[in-house]
Parts: sequence; C-alpha cells; structure tokens
Amino acid sequence: MYSKLLWDRGLTEGTGGNVSMRQDDSVFITPTSMIKHFLTDEDIVELATDGTKVAGKYNPSSEYKMHIFLYQNNPDVNVVVHAHPPYATAAAVAGRELPVNMLPESALLLTPITYIPYQMPGSQGFADAFINGIEKGSNVFLLGNHGVTVTGKTMTEAFARIETLEFLSRVSFLTGAEPGTMEIPDDQIQAWLATLK
Ligand code: 13P
Repeated sequence: MYSKLLWDRGLTEGTGGNVSMRQDDSVFITPTSMIKHFLTDEDIVELATDGTKVAGKYNPSSEYKMHIFLYQNNPDVNVVVHAHPPYATAAAVAGRELPVNMLPESALLLTPITYIPYQMPGSQGFADAFINGIEKGSNVFLLGNHGVTVTGKTMTEAFARIETLEFLSRVSFLTGAEPGTMEIPDDQIQAWLATLK
C-alpha cells in the first residue's frame, strides 16, 4: 500500500500525510490521525465525489476538502498525496523556490511547481488556494509552513513525483542551488523532453 511506502521511505512522519485515489464516483482516502505504516485496506474510507462519507469505520483524513477540491477541478487527476518530506518541507517553510531544471527527472515530473502561502490545514480556504496552480497545469504544490501535495493520473506517477520532489529539494539544499543557478539550459531540457514524446 502506497501510504505505508510513504511513511517507510521517510516522506512523512508521525500521523502526518494522507493519500487518496479516485475510482469512478468514489474517492478512497486514508483515515485521519493514523500512522500510515500500520494502515490496512479495511481502514480506508470511501467518500462520494462531493466529500460525503459513504463507507468506512473511521473518519476520513482531515484534509479531505483539499483532496475533493483537486479532483473536482482537475479531471486528469486520479491520485492525491499529501505529506511532510523533510527537505521539501524545509524549502516550503523557508519560502525557497526550487531549481526545477537542475535535474532532468525533476524537469520532467515536477514542472511547474506551485508555491502556496500558509493556510489553516483542513480548511476550505486551504483547499481553494490550489486553484491557481491547477489552472496553470501544476501537479506539485509546496505549502508554506506545512508540507507538500502532489497529484497524478496513477499512484505510480504521484509517488514518483513526491520522491523526485524530495530528491530535488535535498540536492538543492546540499548544493545551495537556487532557480537560475546550476540548472540545465532550458533549450536542452526541451530537446530532451521532445525525445520522450
Ligand atoms: P490526517 O491524519 O487527518 O490525514 O492529517 C494529517 C496531515 O498531514 C494534516 O495536514
């Protein structure tokens, strides 16, 4: 289960983080306040696409409004992962932008990154703050004083995004790189991306 992988890989801590998947008219989401390492399939909560609880023995993640908002406003998104990976969270807390073209994989999977100032976790205001990023085609959101959220078509894609985001954050921390420094020239990135189409 990917929520266990998230915790086991050190991409989130304690009871932090939440994961959901949209399937037809349902959203399956992790329950609130549980350590993700110990979750089993039976613990997952089923919601309708408007956020109403359909089934499950626990309450859904306190961040369910953010998950629902991301699905309602982006038909291509089937998976939402929210977590607190240490280096990416450090960048979000420090208000440090990441040099996304520093590594080919990050240019491929993370562009464009959206930076969202702090909003109260779990609030509708927090969910609504994603709209500008969604409209510019972003799947990667750095959340001020909080953590990160990534989206994807599949679990594999979303998980690759959060791993790559944390890796880029770590390498940019270790090198001191900022946007505009140590980056691959954009024409070379574009030429490489064209070979993958
Ligand atoms: P939940 O346990 O309610 O999913 O909340 C964890 C979290 O990371 C809140 O931002």
